Amino acid sequence: MAEKRKIVVTSALPYANGDIHLGHLVEYLQTDFWARFQKLRGHECVYVCADDTHGTPIKIRARKEGITPEELIARSHAEHLRDFTDFQVAFDNYHSTNAPENKVLSERIYAAMEKSGAVTSKTSPQLYCEKCQMFLPDRFVKGECPKCGAAGQYGDSCDKCGATYGAEELGHPVCTTCGATPVVRDSEHLYFELEPQHEYLEKWIPGHTTSDVSNKLLEWFKEPLRGWCISRDAPYFGFEIPGHPNKFFYVWVDAPIGYIASLKNWCEKNGKNIEDYWPSDGTDGDVELYHFIGKDIIRFHCLFWPGMLHTAGFKGPDKVFVHGFLTVNGEKMSKSKGTFVNARTYLNHLPPEALRYYYAAKLGGTTDDMDLNLSDFVQRVNSDLVGKITNIASRGGQMLQKKLEGRLGAMDDEGLALIAKCREASETIAKHYEDRRFNMAVVEICRLADAANEYFDRREPWKTVKTDAEATRVTLTAALNAFRIIAIYLKPILPAYADKAMKLFGETEWTWDSINAARENCALGEYEYLASRIDGKQVEAMIAAATINPGDSGEVSHESRASKNKAKVEAAPAAAVEVPALKPEIAFGDFEKVDLRIGKVISCETVPKSSKLLKFELDAGSLGKRTIFSGIRGSYADPAALVGKEVLFVANLAPRKMSVGVSEGMILYAGEPGVNGGILEPLDSVPAGTPAT
Ligand code: MSP
Ligand code: ZN
Repeated sequence: MAEKRKIVVTSALPYANGDIHLGHLVEYLQTDFWARFQKLRGHECVYVCADDTHGTPIKIRARKEGITPEELIARSHAEHLRDFTDFQVAFDNYHSTNAPENKVLSERIYAAMEKSGAVTSKTSPQLYCEKCQMFLPDRFVKGECPKCGAAGQYGDSCDKCGATYGAEELGHPVCTTCGATPVVRDSEHLYFELEPQHEYLEKWIPGHTTSDVSNKLLEWFKEPLRGWCISRDAPYFGFEIPGHPNKFFYVWVDAPIGYIASLKNWCEKNGKNIEDYWPSDGTDGDVELYHFIGKDIIRFHCLFWPGMLHTAGFKGPDKVFVHGFLTVNGEKMSKSKGTFVNARTYLNHLPPEALRYYYAAKLGGTTDDMDLNLSDFVQRVNSDLVGKITNIASRGGQMLQKKLEGRLGAMDDEGLALIAKCREASETIAKHYEDRRFNMAVVEICRLADAANEYFDRREPWKTVKTDAEATRVTLTAALNAFRIIAIYLKPILPAYADKAMKLFGETEWTWDSINAARENCALGEYEYLASRIDGKQVEAMIAAATINPGDSGEVSHESRASKNKAKVEAAPAAAVEVPALKPEIAFGDFEKVDLRIGKVISCETVPKSSKLLKFELDAGSLGKRTIFSGIRGSYADPAALVGKEVLFVANLAPRKMSVGVSEGMILYAGEPGVNGGILEPLDSVPAGTPAT
């Protein structure tokens, strides 16, 4: 292992004002994958975060709820931390920007900024609501765009024509809180001048973020940099600016300082010195610092923040890692479509591992937006995580337990070759993790799972177990050792899953280097279910819950953890046992022999005395009518509802005589009810009976 590194990593601080949702998790999950990877590699890595608590919205929301801002942020803090914990996001410290450390640090950094001469003051006209007795922030006033006249525009920019302006320029402005017409009042404000750091920042930016991000930022450097307004008027929930009564630090001043405050708080709890982790003596120290952020907050992290840190002599980030936004089914998250899903709503319906796995499989370390396609999500989790990866352990582990006294044997040459192949992938996978190409890491890991399954199927242990127990033990030992290495590689993405796998092998600690050990001639632990298939119905229920009560989980969130976990454990076995082994690969020529057609359901009825079968009458277009018996009754309470739907069926399957009649084909459907209830979406544009491909 290379030299031990000391790393500090952060995710952006979520606003205390709102719930954690699946969009946020794009960030917190990837930071967690990365931090856990560094720890697994043996490095010291401290992952800190906090709630971003200050600003007008907090003040207003607390006022509406009849509580203090402090009460509001305490509640959010507990809720956020619970959501993160249940998603297995392991912060080393989760603090708050409304903390004493942050006040001290903010005052100190501001004093340095002032001392450097970079803080100026300017008096400018601002909108003031006499009824609310406050200056109105841009988002608290609406009116007509001064450029195009469009109504209902916020105080900073116009949705219709894209113009940017000052709120006091709006026509017919109204206060969005009370509806009153605000007046214009002069107010003095403080600015942090960036132009003195023009050259410094122009040099700094390209080395500290990706080229797409840096090119965009550098466009601003063709002109002198504008000063940044860093003060807000009372009433404001935040820190008062020393020497400027009734003026408060703009939330974006003390928010990033919250990274240092959280780290300092961690240092205090762990007997460490903050100077060793975030030096403020003008040096970079022996520590690496990385921020993970979304693309909407680049300006704050790659311009103002390094400017502030540099001015105050604090270490700046070594890299700012920028990710894109989450889309769901290819579109922006939408409350009315039920795709604006809160973390808690998700957890009420689906296991955290599924989302962790899916996000990892999609995240490539770029600023591109990332799509959560809900049917792809179900399919990928079931086919790869459950059907491909977990299957090795469930098939191998259960057979060893049931038939071979649960004892691992030794591996033969073929088995050792499989293990060598798994170990050889180590540095490739590590490099992918390091570079935040989690998607590529998952691809590599799946390749190893393919190799392990292929080995398993080739050795046919389910046959040899009847004749040669010891040969079977050799096979299962290699398959399980391959799984062990795969589980170690997956540990940053699926920590709880990996811990269960580790217990299966009777071990107490895994590091990345544990791949070099093997488990032979020893007992295998009790096989615990690692992951179970997810069902399109769970996704449907989640979307329904998110639609009924948008922006709020709308569900009982104080359900006892114990009873919930119990339900999960009990539900898992039946589902996991069903996972069929992958059949051997077929050539395209084999596949081509299957004649797939679309048919329309003319009638569908239950079959007397059969709990499984449904009798379908299909209109197969040019092929005429077809009678097909299909064993999917369990999934359809109301067969009549299938009438009129179009289904995909195999038209050239030899007719099969059954006790209830002759079946003239086979209807294809998802192995369990999928997002569309197991029946394919009606393909209205395809005439019945035409070839599907
Ligand atoms: N409070 C600020 C950050 C201060 S950091 C000193 C903030 N908070 S936020 O709650 O709006 O967002 C927190 C992080 O989540 C940001 O990095 C943001 O880009 C990210 N995301 C919020 N919604 C997102 C999506 N829909 N998709 C992906 N990331 C998103 O900004
Ligand atoms: Zn008002």
